[in-house]
Formats: sequence, C-alpha cells, structure tokens
Amino acid sequence: MYNEYLPVAFSDELKDKLEVQLLNKDILLLRREEKIYAFSNRCPHRLAKLSHGKFLDNEIQCPYHGWRYNLEGKLTYIPSLGKSMNVKLEKYFVKEKYGIIWVSIKEPKEDLPEISDWTGFRKIKCGPYYIKANPFRVLENLMDVSHFPFIHEGYLGDPKFPSIPEYDAKLNDEGVIMENVNVYQPNPDGLSQGKYFNYTYKVLRPLLLYFSKINERGEIFSMIFTIKPEAKDKSIVYAWILMNYAYDTPEEKIRKFEDEIIMQDKEILETQPYEYYLDPSKEIHVKADLGSVLYKQYLKKRVGQFEELGLI
Ligand code: FES
Ligand SMILES: [Fe+2]
Repeated sequence: MYNEYLPVAFSDELKDKLEVQLLNKDILLLRREEKIYAFSNRCPHRLAKLSHGKFLDNEIQCPYHGWRYNLEGKLTYIPSLGKSMNVKLEKYFVKEKYGIIWVSIKEPKEDLPEISDWTGFRKIKCGPYYIKANPFRVLENLMDVSHFPFIHEGYLGDPKFPSIPEYDAKLNDEGVIMENVNVYQPNPDGLSQGKYFNYTYKVLRPLLLYFSKINERGEIFSMIFTIKPEAKDKSIVYAWILMNYAYDTPEEKIRKFEDEIIMQDKEILETQPYEYYLDPSKEIHVKADLGSVLYKQYLKKRVGQFEELGLI
C-alpha cells in the first residue's frame, strides 16, 4: 500500500496547510503557489506536530522550539543553536485529481486511472464519510449488491426481489470488472422511480471503485468512491456522483440521498471485524459474492500481506 496513490482529503479541505493521517502515519500537507507538498507531520527534534506551526516565507516553523524546514523538507535553522544541521523531513509523493488530494508514501507503482465520465457529467461531491471499519471491508461493501434489499430497503433494493442473477466478473489489467449486474431498485437515484438497473463495477485500485448504471432511457448514474485507510479501524470515504441527467434536481437533494445510503452501510460495517481476510476460507461465498472473491485475489496480487491494516 506504500506504493499506491491513496486519497487523503478533498481538494477544498486544503487551504495552506492540513494535517491528515494515512496508514497510521501523521502527514502534513502544504499548499504554496499552486503546488502541493506532503511531509511527515512529526518534527524530528521532539516529534511535535508541524501542522501546529506557522509559515515564515516559504518555510514552516515548528511550534515547539522553532526549528525551520523549507519546501524540500530540509532543516534550515535551529534557533537555540544559531545554525542548521543535516536533517530532512520524510517527503511523500502527492497529486491532485478528481477534486481529491492523493498521497503515495513511496514511489507509486502506477498513476491514477482515467475515468471518462469525469468530463462532461454533472458532478456532486459526497462525503467525507467517517466509518469505524476496515477500509477493504468498506470497499467490498460498496461493490456488493446483494445487501441492497436488506440494508437499503426502499432505496436501492426491495426484499421482494432479493435474488441476484448471475453476472460477468473478471480480473484483468484494469482491476476487478463486474458487468451486467442487474438489480431491481425502488428508488435508484433519489428520484423515486422503481426500475431495473444494469450496473458495471470496476475496482481500479485497491481502494478506488467506480460504478455506473444505465437505464432504458440512456440515463447514466456513475460514482467514484475512494477510501482513505487511516488505520485498520478508520476509513474515510470520498465520493463523487456523476450524472448525465436530472440537471434541474438540487444538488442537496441528491447528496442527502447518498448520505442516507452510506449511513445505512456504516451501521453494519461498524459491526464487522477490523481485520479483512484474504484467505477465502475464513468466510463463506456464494454466487453473488464473485466480485468480492476476485477483489481478494486482486489484493493478494497487488498488495500482499499488510498486517498494519489488518489485511491478513
Ligand atoms: S519539536 Fe520541533 S523544534 Fe523541537
Ligand atoms: Fe450499501
């Protein structure tokens, strides 16, 4: 997971500096003249948080003993000593895309994927949603349709139609791809019209999911979900709704609908173990869980063991 771009904040949360947690690390984000920097937030002197310090020109001054660091992360001055020493803050890879700031602790394996609906569609920002659950369990929940009739009764599912017809699922270079996932939905997008929807889900990165559903009128409702893994029991979901219809429906109405859906999921997610098992024999899988089974295979290949996050 250290070689993956992972979300740390929505772009508009970062004004000049912001403190975030990622993979149990404290990170300081700085925005200076259109550029973003990501450093360890711990001053190497006595480990105080640099985010509580202040900017002096293009330097950040630690709040505790006033040590100063430049935008390369290099220590430039120790007030009590009257000079500097050879000390550097840990610096991370950072980028801004999809209205989100992403950090990779080490050199990223791959750049972020292109999501074509991002251009030209109406975009509605949803979240951040704070869930006390394992991040991989949160992603798995977001690609699982067989819970719709139970957790999202009246919204995304109807208990009178619980059966999930066989769908197509594969693991390829793009990630986990599930197609022709058909679900009857009484209120599929907050606009209260029951219909069958045909879903496509794509796990594009270990904690980045895209889905799209299209109805008979060619109306497309897509979403991007990405999860910040703060710790094994701390997940923060950043999401975007992308739509090519309902331009007149107020944004708040659509966002409120998504907020309710996520709160329904959160209630159950917070009852699950904080560990996420890669070993499929630890849980039981049926046909509707094919996507989850492939997700485990994908993680095993791409991430391997990751005990710190309870991925075992
Ligand atoms: S802890 Fe930062 S200067 Fe001492
Ligand atoms: Fe759900």
